[in-house]
Amino acid sequence: MNSTISAADAGVFHIGGDIAIHRLGFGAMRVTGRGVWGEPADREEALRTLRRLPELGVNFIDTADSYGPGVSEELLREALHPYGGILIATKGGLVRTGPDVWIPLGRPEYLIQRAHESLRRLGVERIDLWQLHRIDPSVPRDEQFGAIKTLLDDGLIRYAGLSEVSVDDIEAASKVFQVATVQNRYNLIDRTNEDVLDYCERRGIGFIPWYPLAAGDLARPGSLLDNVAQRHGASPSQIALAWILKRSKVMLPIPGTSRVAHLEENVAAAKIHLSDEEFAALDREGAARFRASPQQ
Ligand SMILES: NC(=O)c1ccc[n+]([C@@H]2O[C@H](COP(=O)([O-])OP(=O)(O)OC[C@H]3O[C@@H](n4cnc5c(N)ncnc54)[C@H](OP(=O)(O)O)[C@@H]3O)[C@@H](O)[C@H]2O)c1
Repeated sequence: MNSTISAADAGVFHIGGDIAIHRLGFGAMRVTGRGVWGEPADREEALRTLRRLPELGVNFIDTADSYGPGVSEELLREALHPYGGILIATKGGLVRTGPDVWIPLGRPEYLIQRAHESLRRLGVERIDLWQLHRIDPSVPRDEQFGAIKTLLDDGLIRYAGLSEVSVDDIEAASKVFQVATVQNRYNLIDRTNEDVLDYCERRGIGFIPWYPLAAGDLARPGSLLDNVAQRHGASPSQIALAWILKRSKVMLPIPGTSRVAHLEENVAAAKIHLSDEEFAALDREGAARFRASPQQ
């Protein structure tokens, strides 16, 4: 891959209407072990991948205290501290007791403690974007939003976001603090969150689609996605990313990988411009696939 690959080609979004980032970011969940637990299988390649990010113009990285737990934040610090203009967004609110186990815990004192831990691990005095990983259904949501307001008021975090939330949740949270971003699952074949995306677009809230590379059997040889990919000299997952980027100006995809080659391929998608016809045809096919099988 050549050196002209740049996340800048995806355009700019301002987090909180303030901090400029390139719209194509990076998800740092995959630089951990199996089940998002412990150290990555190839630690050196994971570090190389992280160090390649600024060279490729990626200045928006998503992580969480629970990735590892702690491992992703620690590797980011080892590879990139003091970050040189990269916005590190982290999250808190999920407890880990083993590989692939994620338990929401939204007690206010716990959320505040986790933000302190992330500050220490990342080696920063303030977190630019801290996201509530899940609303804990066993704790009143306003108490969780109140903890976020405390973090903002105390200057521990600059902006705050939510993850896996409804429009109603965003409206309730917005009465307590400025919701800068929403991170919900969204991709070509998972349209569960269209209403949340449309809401975010109207309000200028950044929408961070996780699992953005998924295309399922839409990527099979001879398919529309495959044909569009061939036309652009690209892979189906690059076209899936290009489609997501064109879907909305507030869209901030964070494809994740632990390999330099995959990172370069993903960032190269920033310069693929789909025609309106290609976008609409892929949109129709993805939406039909989702209607036929909403549980991907
Ligand atoms: N808020 C939430 O609840 C939540 C949940 C899940 C994820 N997230 C965030 O969203 C980010 C992205 O989500 P995700 O990791 O689930 O989905 P993703 O980025 O769409 O897919 C990642 C997977 O695709 C592989 N991959 C990446 N680039 C590839 C390429 N060019 N060619 C072939 N395979 C490739 C990766 O393996 P390799 O390492 O082998 O490349 C990994 O298995 C995460 O890193 C995390 O920051 C948030």
